[in-house]
Amino acid sequence: MNRLLFGTAVMAMAMAYGIPAANASSPPLGLPPVPIPADNPQTPAKIALGNKLFHDARFSSTGTISCASCHADAKAFTDHLPVAEGIHKLKGTRNTPTIINAAYFHLLFWDGREPSLEAQAKDPMVNPVEMGLKNHEPVLKIVRTDPAYQAMFKQVFGVTGNQVTMKQVLMAIASFERNVVSGDSPFDRYVYGGDKKAMSPAAVAGMSIFQNKGRCVDCHTMNTTYATFTDNRFHNLGIGANELGTKKMQQLAMAFLANKAHRKEVDTTVLTNKDMSELGRFAVTGQLNDLGAFKTPILRNVAVTEPYMHNGSLKSLMDVVNFYNNGGVVKKGEKATVFQSGGIRPLGLTEKEKKELVAFLEALTSPQYVKDGPKSPIRSAASR
Ligand code: HEC
Ligand code: HEC
Repeated sequence: MNRLLFGTAVMAMAMAYGIPAANASSPPLGLPPVPIPADNPQTPAKIALGNKLFHDARFSSTGTISCASCHADAKAFTDHLPVAEGIHKLKGTRNTPTIINAAYFHLLFWDGREPSLEAQAKDPMVNPVEMGLKNHEPVLKIVRTDPAYQAMFKQVFGVTGNQVTMKQVLMAIASFERNVVSGDSPFDRYVYGGDKKAMSPAAVAGMSIFQNKGRCVDCHTMNTTYATFTDNRFHNLGIGANELGTKKMQQLAMAFLANKAHRKEVDTTVLTNKDMSELGRFAVTGQLNDLGAFKTPILRNVAVTEPYMHNGSLKSLMDVVNFYNNGGVVKKGEKATVFQSGGIRPLGLTEKEKKELVAFLEALTSPQYVKDGPKSPIRSAASR
């Protein structure tokens, strides 16, 4: 393709994703432009409305749980629990991922069962172990009658009263989440900012292990101009699946396919049934090669979003590194299922190399999430 044609194609792509030209050139250091859907452009007023909705506990059956109960601003938008706790302290089956940089995922949830942030936001409200509503009517009642919401929906969407729909509620929440992006970590300043002092020598050595001997970069991708650290694909590392074993995983897969209700209510099934949760991507696609596979997480801010993995089973970054070093088993010599990704093999890292790899992962924290750092979790609308 010649340069002119290529340029036109890029423009067309930018328009399809609705990336305004000004925004496209100013994402945080180390990140690509945030993909913005053409039918839901970012505006400061919409982001502010989404922020309010995200923090509103009235959207739960008990009036106690908001999105931010589990995705807490002060905890880097997660909860530091192995698995989430919703209404009445009911436990789910999966670890709460941060929403920081979730805007870069092609599919949402550990198993990718939702295609967009807009589609995702409706599920927790009606999940029995999260916000526990029977349907979305109570949400609509509040946003249609609360004077503060009335004014905001009027300003953002030009609607009031019964004209307010769930679609608009979800659009605003998604806009807020697309504004929670962060780069500019020591890693970004070292690699993309040209500051050779930004990372410690140990972290620099760790980066080389990440890219070479550790083969981490195969899935947690890096680019010459930015790094999202995810291939947006699904892999079975052996977390959860190894514990259940090959036979049990096969039985669960058959039981899932046979039960129509389970297939229809995937969100409820996987978050209320601990075994079914381990099916991973399979519960969405029904493909055997997706059995026990979960989405590659964006590793940014990983030092402040413990514990780790879809089931929250690994407590520290050293636990994670040991797991990979052992070839995808928690204890050396343990057996992995036949469904484990071929990309997972023993690494033979020395103690020093393991520490360096952890130092690198710690260099991925953005300034606003550094523990005890200045508290400014949300980039202001004006700064983007
Ligand atoms: C009870 C705790 C809890 C509440 C309340 C909650 N979430 Fe979550 N959130 C989770 C868990 C657990 C997951 C992962 C579930 C899965 O992948 O199956 C998740 C996943 C997500 C994801 C996907 C992130 C990714 O990496 O793919 C987004 C976005 C998100 N939540 C936003 C929200 C919004 C918006 C609300 C409010 C409408 C909300 N959450 C309410 C616990 C919670
Ligand atoms: C084959 C693809 C693949 C490779 C190679 C890989 N990862 Fe991962 N990584 C994943 C997936 C998928 C998950 C989530 C798995 C799960 O929860 O079941 C994950 C999870 C993680 C997590 C936990 C993140 C969180 O928020 O819970 C860390 C940390 C991590 N990987 C670091 C590394 C390091 C360091 C290496 C190299 C030693 C590496 N990964 C190699 C795919 C990969």
